[in-house]
Amino acid sequence: MRVITLDNPPVNALSFAYCAKLYEAIEAAHADDSVEAIVFTGANGLFSGGADVNDFNNELPAGAVTIRDVIRAVELSIKPHIAAIDGVALGGGLELALACDYRIATPRSKLGLPEIKLGLLPGAGGTQRLPRLIGARAALEFMLKGSAVPAARVLELGILDEIVDGNVLERAISLAKEIPPKRRISALEATIAPDVPMQAAPFVVAQAHKMVPPEDNGGFAAHKLIDAVQAAVELPFAFGVAREARLFDELVHSKASLALRHVFFAERELSKVPGLEATQQCHPERSRRTLAIAKAGVVGAGTMGSGIAITFAQSGVPVVVVDTNEEAVDKARQTVMGMFMYQVQKGRLTQEEAWQRGQSITFTDDWRELADADLVVEAVFEDPEVKREVFAKLDGIVKPEGLLASNTSTLDIDAMAAATGRPQKVLGLHFFVPANIMPLLEIVRGRATSAQTLATAFAIGKMLKKKAVLSGNAFGFIGNRMVFDYVREAFALAEEGTTPARVDAVMKAFGFPMGPFAMSDLSGLDIGLHVQKLQGKAGQGRTNVLEQLVEQKRLGQKAMAGFFKYDKAVGKGREPIADSVVEQLFAQEACKAGIASRVVTDREIRERLLYALINRGAYLLEEGVALRPGDIDIVFVYGYGFPPHHGGPMWYADEVGVARVYERIREFEATFGPQWKPSALLARVAASHDVGSLAHA
Ligand code: 3HC
Repeated sequence: MRVITLDNPPVNALSFAYCAKLYEAIEAAHADDSVEAIVFTGANGLFSGGADVNDFNNELPAGAVTIRDVIRAVELSIKPHIAAIDGVALGGGLELALACDYRIATPRSKLGLPEIKLGLLPGAGGTQRLPRLIGARAALEFMLKGSAVPAARVLELGILDEIVDGNVLERAISLAKEIPPKRRISALEATIAPDVPMQAAPFVVAQAHKMVPPEDNGGFAAHKLIDAVQAAVELPFAFGVAREARLFDELVHSKASLALRHVFFAERELSKVPGLEATQQCHPERSRRTLAIAKAGVVGAGTMGSGIAITFAQSGVPVVVVDTNEEAVDKARQTVMGMFMYQVQKGRLTQEEAWQRGQSITFTDDWRELADADLVVEAVFEDPEVKREVFAKLDGIVKPEGLLASNTSTLDIDAMAAATGRPQKVLGLHFFVPANIMPLLEIVRGRATSAQTLATAFAIGKMLKKKAVLSGNAFGFIGNRMVFDYVREAFALAEEGTTPARVDAVMKAFGFPMGPFAMSDLSGLDIGLHVQKLQGKAGQGRTNVLEQLVEQKRLGQKAMAGFFKYDKAVGKGREPIADSVVEQLFAQEACKAGIASRVVTDREIRERLLYALINRGAYLLEEGVALRPGDIDIVFVYGYGFPPHHGGPMWYADEVGVARVYERIREFEATFGPQWKPSALLARVAASHDVGSLAHA
């Protein structure tokens, strides 16, 4: 018996280089007559994270050994192979396990084929073996979701043979000693599902194609994956594998996969901040320098405050929420309990867990209960004076080592820090509504914010399972600052005679879940107006449509009327319905202001909105507010629904060609005015013919 340990830190990725070594070890075991069975196990706390995604960016080097070669060697051998899984087995890692004759795992293990999230399909036999093992219907669901699924469920599905409570390697070794028979999945016939005849295959395949997004709007890989499963059902194994390989190659070079792979790596870059390396903030568990957060505090029991409290409670951190308004507290209590009960209904929490989480949030009107909090996040009204007062008060109450954070979406962190005697411990933690659901967190660095505070903020982000992006302290930070320009253009288009419904439809067709007007309705028109005031831009618009709508109490979705109208009977009151009253208001006010109406193409709508984002993003890079183009992309993908298959606004600029974007922005500047002045960075990149990419700027 031979144990082969996958050991290629950090995630035992099956790179070409590593596969060459693995292949050698496998062939040596096959050639050794004293070896009767082979056990695969993983080092570094996991089985394998799959193929090395970096390899896909390069042409296959001549003579390279790939996972497919490794798997073929396993498959062809007459010796039995056992996968002993502990931790995650993903992508090519799970495909290797599927080529083994037995698969056993520990209860904490998670298995998945997440290739779809990278715009790919399982390309090392996964699409052919899984339908043979568990049926095409279950296999499609497993691969189209691409989640890492807990071992217990994977056992139920029939992918695992056994879950081992004790030492999985010892169990595999004892299994190997029994010299179990070969059980090649490739030799099985594919099925559809228990009790479903094979004749139903075309129907199941057609249904699957209908359920995924269109090919040209985020569904390219999904349709190819379904094609591969169809091949598993219709063709002999060897032909199916060849089909899978062809489809995989098509996807590797697709724009969508390149964009999704960019998002994957950009996400992993986020916490790599120059100057913070010493605090080892990427691995806070190993660092003594980040502060532990054993108790959190929240000031303000509004929507934002309760969402933040739920987020901490979900991560097992007790929270005290301070608010003196009894009505707000009652409502927040209901929100909190409602949220945990909903999770019980969905089967995500047991009654007991829901109760415990609910208990870990306490509401009080006594600020002194914040004294021993390690971190307090204020979520009070967006007003500089109110915020300064809160910070001054917190400074006098919270223990000296406690961090003080503001959940402001726009305001100056330094002004708040100046109200305290501990500016190095003050920062922005900008959550997005609803805070317990939205994955984005902007960490705002003030002038005095210390490296330790920032490192702790990244550790908090990780603990809360958020994508934490560092932003400089500038009005609106990264996300909102860019969205102001995006909404500005949407508004300008409406003033020029394009209906809000059309603008929104064009952006939805691009891949956003909602357009800019529906988004403004969701966040509230009063909030939009308030932000304009804070920015000193109120009343400076070409028309006063926004002011009038707010005056008419058309505050957005919450008022069942904003730029659109809403009807409880349509989409539970969340579906925007075009409203001619608003369209007329735009027309009438534009006429008064002497704005000429223009006929625009869908392309112009798209360009004006997206290029406004790109131009502002370039300014933010130039000014150092955002660290990297990828950081901006993550903000938009996770905070504003930018379609991930376009990679985020800055990636999209590269996709279109920066020179082309720049030229168009110059045209817009000439037509519409100085708000379109292109950023110097954009001009520089556009001129550099050899690079021409923001990613390399
Ligand atoms: N290829 C290359 N690098 C990878 C990788 C992969 N498959 N998976 C993770 N990494 C790298 C990350 O970039 C990161 O690098 P860094 O330290 O330089 O930033 C490092 O490994 C650690 O990753 P995480 O920060 O994500 O570590 P976690 O412990 O939080 O998560 C994980 C580990 C669950 C394995 C997670 O990294 C993950 O989900 N990885 C991707 C899994 C995946 O998509 N696999 C499919 C690959 S495609 C494939 O297999 C094709 C096949 O069908 C032919």
